[in-house]
Amino acid sequence: VHAGLVDRFQRSHDYLRISLTERCNLRCQYCMPEDGIKLTASERLISFEERQQLAALFGRMGVTKFRLTGGEPLVYPRLVEVVESLKALPNTTEVNMTTNGVTLERKLPALKAAGLDGLNISLDTMDPHLFQIITRRKGHDRVLGAIRAAQELGFGAVKVNVVITRGLNDQELLPFVEWTRDNDVDCRFIEYMPFDGNRWNFDKLVTYQDMLETIQTHYPLQRLKEGPNSTSKLWQVDGFRGRIGFITSMTNHFCGSCNRLRLTADGNLKVCLFGSEEVSLRDVLRSGASEEELMSVIGKAVMRKHARHAGMFAIAESNNRPMTTIGG
Ligand code: GTP
Ligand code: 5AD
Ligand code: SF4
Repeated sequence: VHAGLVDRFQRSHDYLRISLTERCNLRCQYCMPEDGIKLTASERLISFEERQQLAALFGRMGVTKFRLTGGEPLVYPRLVEVVESLKALPNTTEVNMTTNGVTLERKLPALKAAGLDGLNISLDTMDPHLFQIITRRKGHDRVLGAIRAAQELGFGAVKVNVVITRGLNDQELLPFVEWTRDNDVDCRFIEYMPFDGNRWNFDKLVTYQDMLETIQTHYPLQRLKEGPNSTSKLWQVDGFRGRIGFITSMTNHFCGSCNRLRLTADGNLKVCLFGSEEVSLRDVLRSGASEEELMSVIGKAVMRKHARHAGMFAIAESNNRPMTTIGG
């Protein structure tokens, strides 16, 4: 990696998460207020070409992995072209996407043909009625259908993201674990995290320890090894096909091995999921800056990145953005 992507703590940032749009077709309680959020005016969003120019620049600086997020990336009209163009960059090894899956199934063949490598799909309940309460929309059957179709199309082990919120879906842990008996999925239980407008509080947080204890009362678990920059701690029930993971950003952060940067739909570089430090690459680009100048702006932002997030209570108090404009 280019020196500009290495921070003060020797973390190499070779992974860029690109939020394609702030829009979403769901209204998940842990993500957005019921009425949605105030969307950025379209002239302040980066264009397809600007995004491509920035992605190519990050590629030259050493980014090899891209993840497309939103809002909901499937709402973005030129999604398939984005995948193709990221795959066409010389250093790209992987292009993945995180989606709510509701409108995924019919796009799967085109995404596969464009070279999309992997899919993380959000699903917080096995109960169709509860789905409608959590997401304030319909679509449970379509998400399950998309997961099945993705597996059949050879997208490998699909990762299913399950945000656990106390009093809402904490009873869903065991049904998801049961699902991994015959299904080659990674069910990843995520600690509820605070973002602007999502009404996080400590009482709604089900911790890694809580979740593990609940599951271990019913199933014998074994710890698996995961990759060096993994967000999740991986486990498996003895004899089951799939795996379960825990994304423990609140109680056991993994900032020491962070390799991620984020590009928002309005063209900001965000060096950490939390905090308000951002820099507008859109403005630098539109001022006619040279590639060297852009790299220097990126390098300075990366150098300011903190060793770790400020802790869950500090984060809950501080300004960030609504989750739907970050993309996770
Ligand atoms: P891969 O490791 O690329 O498979 O994906 P991922 O698990 O990082 O990404 P995904 O979009 O599926 O996000 C799953 C959960 O992890 C979401 O709750 C994200 O907000 C969270 N997450 C993703 N990246 C980070 C990160 O850099 N820091 C923290 N604290 N959480 C993250
Ligand atoms: N806390 C934890 N995870 C969240 N996600 C969205 N909002 C939150 C939150 N408040 C997850 C979704 C999605 C991923 C991009 O981020 O499950 O899969
Ligand atoms: Fe990286 Fe920030 Fe996530 Fe920590 S909280 S892993 S520093 S993005």
